[in-house]
Amino acid sequence: MSLEEEVRALKEERSAVLLAHNYQRPEVQDVADFVGDSLFLSRKAMESDRPVIVFAGVRFMAETAKILNPGRTVLLPDLKAGCALADSITAENLRAWKADHPDAVVVAYINTSADVKAEADYCCTSSNAVKVVENVPAGREILFLPDMFLGDYVRRKTGRTMHLWVGDCPVHAKMRPEALDRARAEHPGAPIIAHPECGCASQALPYVDRVLSTDGMIRFAEETRAPEVLVATEVGILHRMRKLNPGSRFDPIDAGAICPYMKEITLADVRDSLKFGRYVIDVPPETAARARRSLERMVAA
Ligand code: 13P
Ligand code: SF4
Repeated sequence: MSLEEEVRALKEERSAVLLAHNYQRPEVQDVADFVGDSLFLSRKAMESDRPVIVFAGVRFMAETAKILNPGRTVLLPDLKAGCALADSITAENLRAWKADHPDAVVVAYINTSADVKAEADYCCTSSNAVKVVENVPAGREILFLPDMFLGDYVRRKTGRTMHLWVGDCPVHAKMRPEALDRARAEHPGAPIIAHPECGCASQALPYVDRVLSTDGMIRFAEETRAPEVLVATEVGILHRMRKLNPGSRFDPIDAGAICPYMKEITLADVRDSLKFGRYVIDVPPETAARARRSLERMVAA
């Protein structure tokens, strides 16, 4: 039996749903029940009635699934699948920041630990950050964390008073406006789509055709008739784009934009996760209860 067949058989045997993020290895995406962005996968985790959720993504995604589904078993196939952006702020950092701005509303990006989410008023993902910030009552100042590029983009879009935590994703932050200039010169006329975590997303808005979450980028790729599209995000997403639209060419702005955390998970890890029930992700009930409020606002937005 091939590894892929083993995974498919084990999923049935264990009554598990396998969720994979758009940045996962191609062979993991191909065997998953659902592939998508953070918001889509959070919703799928809630909709599925299977008792076991295997999350081929990074830890904060698995924690989110656990918080939203406290009665189910959530497995992360490799505990090294963390996130440098999520690690850029702790709950203690956030409590100190809140103490400096006692009247502010806290909007936390989903790329945060459960402890940080428990301190937030609202959570958001890249696909609904603008909408979530628009839902914050008018006139309230906002603390937005931890990604400063996403925060800057949302601030420009909404015109709200937002203080930004100075955190970034090392994979996306290095994509600067100069990289876009170079790509535009080499591929004249090709549309550019960018993830809002990119270091270029807000400053290079005039050159970027669309700033989108990873699923927004997938939809664009599926629908475009452009012969070539330039993609500014982690390169794992190209697999699905090429599969969905073989008539267009999808080129990365930075072929070295590889998230080492997402790539920790191999197909063999997924097989072992299903086989041995590892690694169980738990969130203390009190933390989960506090984090659930802000996550439910995110899923509803
Ligand atoms: P998406 O929600 O757009 O999938 O992004 C998650 C992420 O970690 C991007 O680096
Ligand atoms: Fe975190 Fe960046 Fe990897 Fe996304 S790409 S999981 S933000 S380190």
